[in-house]
Amino acid sequence: MRAILKGKDYISTQDWTVEELELALDTADELKMMFKKEIPHPYLPNKTIFLLFFDKSTRTRNSFEAGITQLGGHAHFIDSSTSQISHGESPKDTGIILSSYGHGIAIRHDLVPGEGNTYMREIAKHTDRPVINMQCDIDHPCQTLADLMTIREKFGKDNMRGRKIAISWAYAPSYAKPMSVPQGLALLMPRFGMDVVLAHPPEYKLMDSVMETAQENARKAGVKFEVVDDMDAAFEDADIVYPKSWGIESLFHVPEEALEISKKYKDWICDERRMGLTKKDSIYMHCLPADRGYEVTDAVIDGPHSIIYQEAENRLHTCKALMALTM
Ligand code: CP
Repeated sequence: MRAILKGKDYISTQDWTVEELELALDTADELKMMFKKEIPHPYLPNKTIFLLFFDKSTRTRNSFEAGITQLGGHAHFIDSSTSQISHGESPKDTGIILSSYGHGIAIRHDLVPGEGNTYMREIAKHTDRPVINMQCDIDHPCQTLADLMTIREKFGKDNMRGRKIAISWAYAPSYAKPMSVPQGLALLMPRFGMDVVLAHPPEYKLMDSVMETAQENARKAGVKFEVVDDMDAAFEDADIVYPKSWGIESLFHVPEEALEISKKYKDWICDERRMGLTKKDSIYMHCLPADRGYEVTDAVIDGPHSIIYQEAENRLHTCKALMALTM
């Protein structure tokens, strides 16, 4: 299986089977153990990965850079705005040339609906090197793999079936956050036996194509998939809550208009009262960065249900697993 994954792109979790994703999770568990015990694990000696960013990052960039170093390789950071991409160089030319210099290409291109995923797939079409999605307009598969690892650690890998995950929109004034995290969660979690309740105000619908696939995944897995417009209803008896903000698909080019609409929903916040609606041993998750005091209160994000730092740490172990298996 490890050999089978060499050269395989990771652009959406949907492109990988459950067995392949489980292998990535098991590999991440192993790498985490070795990291904690300071056991060297240079599985990618002298290999290079190119990290191409069209947007800002803290966790993704640093987990990939630290991760490839720990695996014995090296990362090149590329800011699209200071490369020839900003002068219009095509994804085909960029992809062919970078892949002739190294062993993998990872890309973040997440801010414009309809662009990032298409860009990555165009690069992937022209290279045999693996292309890893560090977040696009549709999915954030590195984040959701780390989320799944964290949920497995909390509840046990044979004890996820029937768990209720509430994926909820929450108010944030900072910026129109991409739709890729809630979409990625909606796609992935049903495949691992979880019941999904998706909550959002009417304007914040996820992409139609993603919803169709997510609901089909739930049907095939025999789990529930419900959409509500009430955060309280979503939190009721939830095992996992994942409240976060996202933008309106049709308004990413006019962010001020989207932020104005979002002000109607300032009460969509994860606070202690809402956490009181969930199961006693429920977990609070967020991909980060969080808008503290808006998406979530300090009492919740710093409180006993919160698992955010373990979740963020798992970004390192899962991206190392993806690189080790595909490069
Ligand atoms: N969650 C996440 O992707 O974080 P960054 O934007 O900091 O990479």
